[in-house]
Amino acid sequence: MHYHSTGELLLLFASLLKIVAALTVTEDTTLTGDQTFSEAVTIEDGATLTLKEGSVYKFENDLSVHGGLVLDNRNVDGTVSFNRESSLNVTGSFELAVSNDVDMFFTSFYNSGSIYVKGSAVVQPAVTFEGLEVFINDGTIDAGSLDEGPAHSAIAFGDAFDPKKTPFINNGKVVVSGTEKFIEGNVVYLLAGNAVKFLSPPSEGTGSVEVTNSYIGLNARNNPGGPEIQLKDSALYLPANFSTSISVLGLKGSIVAFSLTPTSLLPDMKTTLQDGKLPIGFPDAVATIADIDGTIVPCGIKQDLFTLRATESIYNTNPGISFTDSFPSIPDPVTTTTVVGEGHTVTQTTSYYTEAAGGTCEMKTTVYPTASTLSTRYSAAPSAN
Ligand SMILES: *[C@@H]1O[C@H](CO)[C@@H](O)[C@H](O)[C@H]1NC(C)=O
Ligand SMILES: *[C@@H]1O[C@H](CO)[C@@H](O)[C@H](O)[C@H]1NC(C)=O
Repeated sequence: MHYHSTGELLLLFASLLKIVAALTVTEDTTLTGDQTFSEAVTIEDGATLTLKEGSVYKFENDLSVHGGLVLDNRNVDGTVSFNRESSLNVTGSFELAVSNDVDMFFTSFYNSGSIYVKGSAVVQPAVTFEGLEVFINDGTIDAGSLDEGPAHSAIAFGDAFDPKKTPFINNGKVVVSGTEKFIEGNVVYLLAGNAVKFLSPPSEGTGSVEVTNSYIGLNARNNPGGPEIQLKDSALYLPANFSTSISVLGLKGSIVAFSLTPTSLLPDMKTTLQDGKLPIGFPDAVATIADIDGTIVPCGIKQDLFTLRATESIYNTNPGISFTDSFPSIPDPVTTTTVVGEGHTVTQTTSYYTEAAGGTCEMKTTVYPTASTLSTRYSAAPSAN
């Protein structure tokens, strides 16, 4: 390890106190125990700094990761803190293993390398990213891919309260993946997966967001990181009263749930498939979801109530929409049956099948009235239930 810009004696003294001044890491280095970096830390390309067996890690100045930084703070009492007046510049790889919430707030936040968040098996720590003046991802920000065994984390971009902040510009990739089953029937196991939230202001850029066995929440009028959200067995939360327009891959097997809305809103939450788009109507807003991979069929749109379960005893039941190949079961038709002609009554229904028609789903049956066989149609529009 070579120390630049500060006298070695000063540094030696400082490191005895575990307060490290300006540090340039040029070869692989491991520091154990708590660390306070009062001046800038630069890890050069080709070198990795490993921080472990500490519970308090404090970065009081700029942090530049051009090589590797592995920060392991899975101590339940541990903290990792950064200085919001400083900058983060990652062109290499930054692995952050945490058990507690971390605010990664910087004046300039720039990533063109990889930032990996590793979670905890016990709790779901939240890592929130924010850049006050520069807030750019040209690389990968990933929660979950490096988890060893079941572990959970939640990442968020932006500010929950201040819509006037600098938008998150995602020209790269945000990846959030859980390994456990996240959706089973109508139950979403919120703590089984990881989570990503896009807070205010709306994010920009041409990048993508890939969500597997996890939860994605759009908490602003938001197009998260450009044109594309890729869902795999995941749940997408949309605020009910913002008009939103997003493009989604992998709607099939995923659900779109609306957690602000009382269940009484369900009758108003209508959607039909129109030119590959699903306009979801709320009383005062329309969310438009473009089905990029074109896998949704009108008979595969199912409006229902979903249980968002945190624990056995903590859960919400919310209206939402899921997408399947076709109806998982035949719904009750909304319309009544009329048998044409005098003196006929329906004695049995022998067959039924579903068919897409005009953007909704129709259910047809053949009925056998008493006198002769007639064929009639029930019109069921489950998506507009
Ligand atoms: C990040 O660091 C690289 C390499 O030193 C530099 O070229 C780039 O300008 C920096 N970017 C920002 C936004 O600070
Ligand atoms: C939109 O949602 C917010 C947050 O729940 C609520 O305070 C506000 O009244 C809603 N606006 C409308 C028009 O429903």
